[in-house]
Amino acid sequence: MEKILVLDFGGQYNQLIARRVRDHHVYAEILPYTTPIEEIRKNSYKGIIFTGGPNSVYDMSSPHYTKEILDLGVPILGICYGCQLIAWMGEGEVKTAPVSEYGKIEFTADKKSKLFKEVDEKSVVWMSHTDYIAAAPQGFEIIGTTNDCPCAAMENVEKNIYAVQFHPEVTHSQFGSQMLYNFLYEVCHCTGDWVMDNFIDNTVAKLKEQIGDKKVILGLSGGVDSSVAAGLLSRAVGKQLTCVFVDQGLMRKDEGDFVEKTFTSLFDMNFVRVNCGELFLSKLEGVTDPEEKRHIIGTEFFNVFWNEIRNQDELGYFAQGTIYPDCIESGKGDADIIKTHHNRVNTPDDVEFLGIIEPLCDLFKDEVRRVGEKLGIPKELVWRQPFPGPGLGVRIIGEITADKIKVLQEADWVLRDEMAKNGYDKNLAQFFCVLPDVKTVGVMGDHRTYDHLVAIRAVTTDDFMTADWAKIPYDILAKVSNRITNEVEHINRVVYDITSKPPGTVEWE
Ligand code: XMP
Repeated sequence: MEKILVLDFGGQYNQLIARRVRDHHVYAEILPYTTPIEEIRKNSYKGIIFTGGPNSVYDMSSPHYTKEILDLGVPILGICYGCQLIAWMGEGEVKTAPVSEYGKIEFTADKKSKLFKEVDEKSVVWMSHTDYIAAAPQGFEIIGTTNDCPCAAMENVEKNIYAVQFHPEVTHSQFGSQMLYNFLYEVCHCTGDWVMDNFIDNTVAKLKEQIGDKKVILGLSGGVDSSVAAGLLSRAVGKQLTCVFVDQGLMRKDEGDFVEKTFTSLFDMNFVRVNCGELFLSKLEGVTDPEEKRHIIGTEFFNVFWNEIRNQDELGYFAQGTIYPDCIESGKGDADIIKTHHNRVNTPDDVEFLGIIEPLCDLFKDEVRRVGEKLGIPKELVWRQPFPGPGLGVRIIGEITADKIKVLQEADWVLRDEMAKNGYDKNLAQFFCVLPDVKTVGVMGDHRTYDHLVAIRAVTTDDFMTADWAKIPYDILAKVSNRITNEVEHINRVVYDITSKPPGTVEWE
């Protein structure tokens, strides 16, 4: 398989660059700038992309790389800091720019360059830099400029090295995607073998070989990743796979039944559903503190899940739906290497597997979804919005009771049904109902009521680190409110949460 290396110098867009490359059907992987050159050499990459980064190349504590990389004979594209690094390595001049550029800037391209095939001579690019290349290194020709940047792009055709001061990976760069395409296909001569059908065939073959006649166990949450992992494993080894689905009674309306029906009717596997709603309710009785609730739910989940695993006759391998962003080691700033393994499950000491299998560990979320669709997993699961591990437990303020779960499930179902009907759900990153521990006075017919208030939470966001409250049109909100108060017993008031993150979080607890 053809591979592009995204060599990470600490910029915020390393994953985005890899995703954009993959969108053009070429596999890209990210490695930190601390990766030894021998490792890069032996991987036979079709091309290397140096990412951006927040530092100055002339500061010796900034991330650098051995100049040898320029002589590997592998095409290189430098982006932003990566562009300046190439200039600096080649003894060009990099210094603080008299005018820093930030945002959308007009760029003039030299149309003779391969990098600008089917790119307009004048276009908008996304810039974010305070240093600039004052003089290009020897052997390089300037192939693009802006008003304040005399060298906004350069190339060394003989060595197949290209560099751009702007960010072609962000959508604000009008022809950014085309430029990346040109690098991949005109410079690196890729053929584009990264397609999801190939991925499925190759992965299924690999899984068959790895698992042989052994068993595999997978914890299925009903989320996108574990569902797609289950689909792939089922295709590879059928009944050798056992999926354990713990239903703690805190899922959305009918969700547990839907997950069970999907995996028992569409896929060949052993499906074990552990219904433990009663147990969870008893453990949560009288508990109102958010952290304590989370802790109880987490601990009980762990106990129930692993007890079920201990009941299995044969363990074999343990599979997880870990995806690429959970596995990347990235270089942040200087030499610190940040390892992110937060979605990996810890196995208890007394449970021993032959090994861990992570069939999705090379995929980004959007690729996981595409694989899921190709495997025939229903859209409701493949496009499911994020749902927290503790489930509705973090959306019921105060004590969690069976009655409150029911009221919240019904209200939340109406909200989702209405949003799906009018198609507004596609504009939202996440939306749901919350049941605060509040009752208010209302009137229904001639009667005074004193019943639950429900809140609607809906946000737009790219990464969930920050989020905006969604500006859902009033007529849609009116319809939702009307339906909830009419269709859901014990709700007489609906409010809309207009708090962004920060200062609020997405969830209420
Ligand atoms: P917050 O509330 O922190 O939520 O702004 C950001 C995103 O994370 C989800 N979330 C969780 N997901 N376990 C999870 O798996 C949790 O305990 C948890 N808490 C919040 C939340 O739904 C949102 O998508």
